[in-house]
Amino acid sequence: MALTDTTKPAPPRHIAIIMDGNGRWAKKRGLPRTAGHAAGAESFRRIANYCRTLGVEYLTVYAFSTENWKRSADEVAGIMRLLRRYLEEALQDMEKNKVRFRFFGDLSKLSPDLQKLCHDAENRSTDYDVQVNFCLNYGGRDEIVQAARRFAQEVAAGERQPEELTEELLGGYLYSANVPDPELIIRPSGELRTSNFLLWQSAYSEYVFMNVLWPDFGPEDLDKAIEEYHRRNRRFGGT
Ligand code: IPE
Ligand code: IPE
Ligand code: MG
Repeated sequence: MALTDTTKPAPPRHIAIIMDGNGRWAKKRGLPRTAGHAAGAESFRRIANYCRTLGVEYLTVYAFSTENWKRSADEVAGIMRLLRRYLEEALQDMEKNKVRFRFFGDLSKLSPDLQKLCHDAENRSTDYDVQVNFCLNYGGRDEIVQAARRFAQEVAAGERQPEELTEELLGGYLYSANVPDPELIIRPSGELRTSNFLLWQSAYSEYVFMNVLWPDFGPEDLDKAIEEYHRRNRRFGGT
């Protein structure tokens, strides 16, 4: 037993997941879409825990995009209600679960109570094994725009020169500052697109697309994605 465990290659340091397919999962069961989101939240809990046991350092999850406001007011309210409940519980369990939270996205568009929960979760320091980056009202393009805006403001204020801008410096203005790029990005649900997720950070990420719907995504699916990742030949433009 121990032998197989020790021969297993180390998992990626940073895994990112587009948590997609909640609506279809609910539809298949004749349930409202919100029931799918509730099941998706459970799936997230399970996978975050599993990542911790695997020794993954960073888990970035796409929970709500800058485009998801296009959905019905009912569905958006349902998602926000679930997020609130999830974060309230997460705040209580942070120490036990050894997890630290960071939020990627424009939180200013969220309700004040939800914003407060996010800030409380970020500011609660705890001994942690895994950092969860929760993407909320997140868009990859929006992230780059806000980074460009901040840099431009510093130039206008005379604090920076335009020619100082490098890839590294720009990276420091992104929500993901100080977080290494994800080695592996997983999209369940069968869709083959990024939907505005981590546009900058995914330059050399390995994508694994899977046919399972997010609420059905279990530890065995994560194992499969990691195995697929280990079969890839990452060249980074070299030979
Ligand atoms: C992902 O599931 C959750 C969010 C985007 C908030 P979906 O709600 O997009 O589920 P499908 O894609 O309609 O099945
Ligand atoms: C991406 O899923 C966003 C999240 C999972 C939060 P979508 O369901 O919004 O993406 P599209 O509309 O299929 O591209
Ligand atoms: Mg979807």
